[in-house]
Amino acid sequence: MPEAPDPRSRPTPTRVPGLLYGGDYNPEQWPEEVWAEDARLMRQAGVTMVTVGVFAWARLQPGPREWDFGWLDRLFDLLAAHGVAVDLATATASPPAWLVRAHPELLPVTADGVRLEFGSRQHYCPSSPVYRAAAVRLTRAIAERYAGHPALALWHIHNEYGDHVTECFCPESAADFRRWLAERYGGVDGLNAAWGTGFWSQHYGHLDEVEPPRTAPGPVNPTQLLDWRRFCSDALLACYRAERAVLDELSPGVPVTTNFMSMFKALDYWRWAAEEDVVCDDAYPDPADPQAHVTAAMHYDLMRSLKGGAPWLLLEQAPSAVSWRAVNLPKRPGLQRLWSLQAVARGADGVMYFQWRASRAGAEKFHSALLPHRGTDSRGWRETVRFGAELRRLASVAGARTRAETAVVLDWESWWALELDDHPSARMRWLDLLRPWYAALYRRSVAVDFVRPGADLSGYRVVLVPNLYLLREETARWLAAHADGGGHLVCGPFTGIVDEHDHVHPGGHPGPLRETLGVVVDEFWPVPDGEGTTVVTADGRTLTARLWTEWLETTDAEPLARFGSGPLAGRPAVTRRGTARYLGCHLGDEIGVVLEQVLAEAGVGPVLPVPEGVEATLRTTPDGAEYLFLLNHGERPARLTLPPDWATAPDRLTGAAVGSRFTLAPLDAVVLRRSPRPR
Ligand code: GLA
Repeated sequence: MPEAPDPRSRPTPTRVPGLLYGGDYNPEQWPEEVWAEDARLMRQAGVTMVTVGVFAWARLQPGPREWDFGWLDRLFDLLAAHGVAVDLATATASPPAWLVRAHPELLPVTADGVRLEFGSRQHYCPSSPVYRAAAVRLTRAIAERYAGHPALALWHIHNEYGDHVTECFCPESAADFRRWLAERYGGVDGLNAAWGTGFWSQHYGHLDEVEPPRTAPGPVNPTQLLDWRRFCSDALLACYRAERAVLDELSPGVPVTTNFMSMFKALDYWRWAAEEDVVCDDAYPDPADPQAHVTAAMHYDLMRSLKGGAPWLLLEQAPSAVSWRAVNLPKRPGLQRLWSLQAVARGADGVMYFQWRASRAGAEKFHSALLPHRGTDSRGWRETVRFGAELRRLASVAGARTRAETAVVLDWESWWALELDDHPSARMRWLDLLRPWYAALYRRSVAVDFVRPGADLSGYRVVLVPNLYLLREETARWLAAHADGGGHLVCGPFTGIVDEHDHVHPGGHPGPLRETLGVVVDEFWPVPDGEGTTVVTADGRTLTARLWTEWLETTDAEPLARFGSGPLAGRPAVTRRGTARYLGCHLGDEIGVVLEQVLAEAGVGPVLPVPEGVEATLRTTPDGAEYLFLLNHGERPARLTLPPDWATAPDRLTGAAVGSRFTLAPLDAVVLRRSPRPR
C-alpha cells in the first residue's frame, strides 16, 4: 500500500482542502445546547476549521489530578459530524487558579519587582520549571486523547507567545538567564569582554553575580540589555519547544503552529518559524488608520517570507471592531471582505477570525465576532455567510506562491540593538525607518519578500537595507557579495555601526560595509523634531531629510544627492558605488525617489500598473496557473486597464466577466485567473 503523504510536506498548510475559513471557538463559555446551533451555523457559513481550547486549561484540568475531557470529546464529534476540522490548542496560555495558588512563584515579575497577579491571562514566568512542567503535562494529556481524532487538522501551541508578558525578572528567570549566558560565553571572561564591563566598574568576578537588567539608577549596560532580549525570545521559544516535542512524539504527521503577532519586536520570528510547520498570524489593522492596509501588507509579506514563501494562515482577525483600543471602530461594509482578501492576495491559505460567537461576559464581550450578539439577523452574520461562500470559489488558490525580485533585510537582533537607549537620537526606531521604504514599494505594486541575514539572495535583483545598526562581519560579506555580483543594494543611514556585541566597528561607519559602499561617515547629525534638511538630487529635485543626517564623505562613490541646507550643505547625502547605494539621511516617504531609480535600473517592474489606492498582487500555483488580485483600498472608484491575456478571465469571486477596461468600486476586489502558459 502506498504510504499516506506526510501533511507537513503538502503545498497547503493542513489536511483541509481549499482556503480555510473559521475562527476561535470558545464553547466553554456556553451551555452545551448552544453548541448544536453553533455547528449548524458554521456549516451554513462555510466554516471549515475552528480553533478550539485556547483558554480551556481550567476546564480541561479542574485540579492537579482531575481531568475533564468529556465535553471536548462531544465537541470534537459534533464538529466532525458537521464537516468542521479542528485547530486544537494546547491550552497553556492561561494557567488555572489552583496551579497559581499552589505555586505563586510561577507568576511573572516586572523589572520593578512587581509580581503580576492572577485574573487576566498569560500570567506565567517563561523560565518557571513549574509552569513548563504543567504545560507539558497538559499538552501530553490533550495529545494522547485527540492525536488520532479524524477532525484534528492542526496543533496550535499556546497562544500568542509574548502577548502581555514578554519578560520576567524573578529569581528563576535570573538563574535561567545565567545558564543561557554560560552557554553563550563559556565563562565570565567572555561575558566581561562582550559586555564591555571595563566601563563604569561593571566587571563581574563570577557569572553568579549577573542579574537580569532590572530597573537601575541610570542607563543599564547595553549589551546586557541586548542579550536579555535574545534570552527572552529564547526562553519563550523553549516553552514552545517543550510542547512541540510532546506533539512530535504523540501526533506525528499533524502540522504544528503557534500564532504570531505580525511584526512583533520581542520575538525573533525567523528562529521561531523554523520550528513550525506553518506560519500563522493574528492581524488587527485599525479601521481608523487610513494607511492600515499598507502596514497589513507589510506584515503579510513577512508572514509569507518567514518560511521561504510557503502559504501561511491568517489565524485571527476581527470581523469588525476590536475591544482593546481606546476607541474601537467597526469595519464598514465591505472592509472585512477586502482586508481578508488582502491576506489571501499576499499568500494566506486561510482566513480565520477572533472569534466565532461573541462572548457575553469577560474582557472581550465588546469584541466583534462572526456570530454577533444580535444573532443571525445582523449585518455581521450576513457578511460572515457571504464571504464564506466567496472564499469557497477561490479554493484553487490554495498552495499558490508569490515571486518577488526585491528583498528587504529584517534582523531582529539589529532591531533590538537599534532601539537601545543613549543613542545619537531616540527617534531612530526600526518600524519608522522601514515603513516608508515598504510603502514606496507598495505604492508601485512591487512584490517584496523579507529575508534574514545570510539568506539565499540569488532570486533577488534588489536588496534593501533600511537599517542594520547591528551588522555582523559575515552579514556585511553577504551584502557585499550581492553587490559585487551585480545585484542592487541600497543601505539606509545608521547602518553598520556595531558588531553583535553592540561594540562600535572601528575606523568609521558603516564599518565593514565602507568599502562596498565607498563612503565613510564622520559624524551623526540628527535632525531636531519638526525640522527638515533639504536634499538636492543630481537631477535637480529637492527632497527633505527628517530625523537624521550624517556628515558623509565619499572614498570611492559618486554623490547622487547633496544636502541643500543646514550645517551639512554641499556634503553628499545619497551616494552610489556601482550597484551599491548609501543614504546618509532619512528621507521618509521621499525614499521612493531613490528606490524608483534603483528598480528601473534593475528592471524590476510592478505586478501591474494600477491607479493609486489599488493593490495588485499575483500568486502562482505549482502547475503554473496565476491569480491576479486587484483590491481597491481607495475612497474613489478606480479605472483599471488589463493586458489582453487577463482581460478574458472572469472574476473568480462573482463569476462576472471583467473585460479589458473596468471600474473597481471603493472597497471592492476582483480575482482573475490565467491558465498555465504552454512551455
Ligand atoms: C488576540 C488573542 C485573542 C483575542 C484577540 C482579540 O489575538 O489571541 O485571544 O484576545 O486578540 O483581538
